[in-house]
Formats: sequence, structure tokens, C-alpha cells
Amino acid sequence: MRLSLRQLKLFESVARHSSFTRAAEEMHLTQPAVSIQIKQLEMAVGLPLFEQIGKRIFLTDVGVELHKVCTEMLEALARFEMNVADRKGLKQGKLRLAVTTTAKYFVPRLLGPFCERYPGIDVSLKVSNRERLLERLANNRDDVYILGQPPGHLPVQSRSFLENRLVPVAHPEHPLAGETRISLQRLAEEPFVMRESGSGTRMATEEFFQERGVAIRVRMELGSNEAIKQAVMGRLGVAVLSQNTVTLESAVGQIAILDADGFPIVRHWHLVWPADKKPSVVAQAFYDYLEEKAQEPGG
Ligand code: PGA
Repeated sequence: MRLSLRQLKLFESVARHSSFTRAAEEMHLTQPAVSIQIKQLEMAVGLPLFEQIGKRIFLTDVGVELHKVCTEMLEALARFEMNVADRKGLKQGKLRLAVTTTAKYFVPRLLGPFCERYPGIDVSLKVSNRERLLERLANNRDDVYILGQPPGHLPVQSRSFLENRLVPVAHPEHPLAGETRISLQRLAEEPFVMRESGSGTRMATEEFFQERGVAIRVRMELGSNEAIKQAVMGRLGVAVLSQNTVTLESAVGQIAILDADGFPIVRHWHLVWPADKKPSVVAQAFYDYLEEKAQEPGG
């Protein structure tokens, strides 16, 4: 079988995006050029790699197998390039980072100095909620993941680093704002605005109340921390959010952090990667950097 590396790279891109157009954009080619290369690849394999259903394309079984081979091969090649650069005294290569929506409030600030220290490292950052992040992890889509709690059902390695404090919040003119030692029963009388199911913040909040035998009433479910903050500012209810997400609003008096029993829920952010994945030189540089940060005062 005569398969060129270039064709395999193109194929991997089309498979990852499920789109010829997006692969063409990524590879700086025209869409017909990509189609021709994929056709040639299919001829070399002797079987179709994609099938079209309606407007969407899907991998065939052979396509799925080839995609797996390509991913492993391209990863090994990238790792080799990074090792060579490392031997030359350079940290160079790509770091594919995926973080939960709540982690995006502090991760970019950590990335700034990291990128300054290692200008040869190219970072891509994907942001999604916990559930979608775990899907990416299961499919080996990224090098490193940052989330609130390592998954129980997937074989991973993890390191905890910064604290993640979850706090109850309300409108500053809410009757509970300014009260001290609010009981959970009293708090639970208020309607709650909650993140969507699949959110790590929601999971931790539900666990917290369940463990204490307190039932809460969810008035509204919203898909982002930003939307929750707007709802709280719009007096639609109280919420439990990561303190990182409300730093600004609480500083300028737009949102009040409530003093309720058992709060804050103190959790830690975790750096997670698949158990059987040996970290690349670049990923290792990132782990070491975070470790260093966690040990700094206030870290
Ligand atoms: P979330 O994640 O943005 O899905 O709520 C926070 C977490 O990982 O705990």
C-alpha cells in the first residue's frame, strides 16, 4: 500500500473535523485538492474511508481503523520532534490543553508567563464542560486536561494544584446578603439557578446538598457561568459558583457572596492525563510549571 505522510495528515484532519472544508482551511488547501488526495488514499487502501449521509460525512469501519493508526503515528512523530528539539536545548512543539468552562477564568492567566518562558511552544486551548471534556479525554483528543475532579471511571493520572472554592452568591440587595452563618435550610428556601447537567460545578453542588440531606429547588438551568451571573444579577435566584468566576462582580458590588454554613466548598483543580500516555517533553514542561506555580505564595 502506498500511503504518503501528507495524505495521512490530510485524512486525519478531515476525520477529526468530519469536514473536507474545515480540513482544507486547516491545511491551507482548497477543498477540491483535499478531496483528490482523499480519493487517492481510498484507491491505495482499496476501500472507502468515508461515507456521506445527507450533508454529513462519517468514517467507515476501515476509516475508523486508519484514523486510529494516523493519530498514533502523528503523535509519535510530534513526540519525536519535541524530543529532538529538547536535545538541542529547546522546548518546542504543541501543547493541546482542554479545560472546563470554569477553569477558563484562571488558566489563560497561567498560560501567559508559560508561553513567555517557552516561546517555541504552541498552545491550543479547548473549553467545554466537564462531561464533554471527559468525552475528549476518553477519545485521546488532547495532551492535558484541567478539571475540578478526576473522573472515577477512566484510567487517568492526576495532580492537584490550585484551590477551587465554590461559594453561594446572590444579588447584593437580596435579604440574605449581609447575613452571617445562614443555615443551609434557610438557603434552600431560595430558588436556585443551576448550571446544566454535565457541569462539574453542578455535580459538586448537588453532592454537597445531598450529603447534608438538604433538598434545593432549581428554578432555572443555564449553560454557562456567565449566564448564571446574569440571572443572579437579574434577581432570578441564588447560585453556587466557583469564586474565580465572580471576582470582578463581587469586587464592584454587583454580586454578593453569601456566608452560609459549610461554605465555601473547598475543592482543587486537577491536571489530568490518560494513565497510559507518556507525557511529551512539552506536556512535562507544563506540569512542572504548574507545580512551581502551586508552590508560590498564594498559589
Ligand atoms: P464545569 O467544571 O465548568 O463543568 O462546571 C468545573 C469542574 O471541572 O469542576
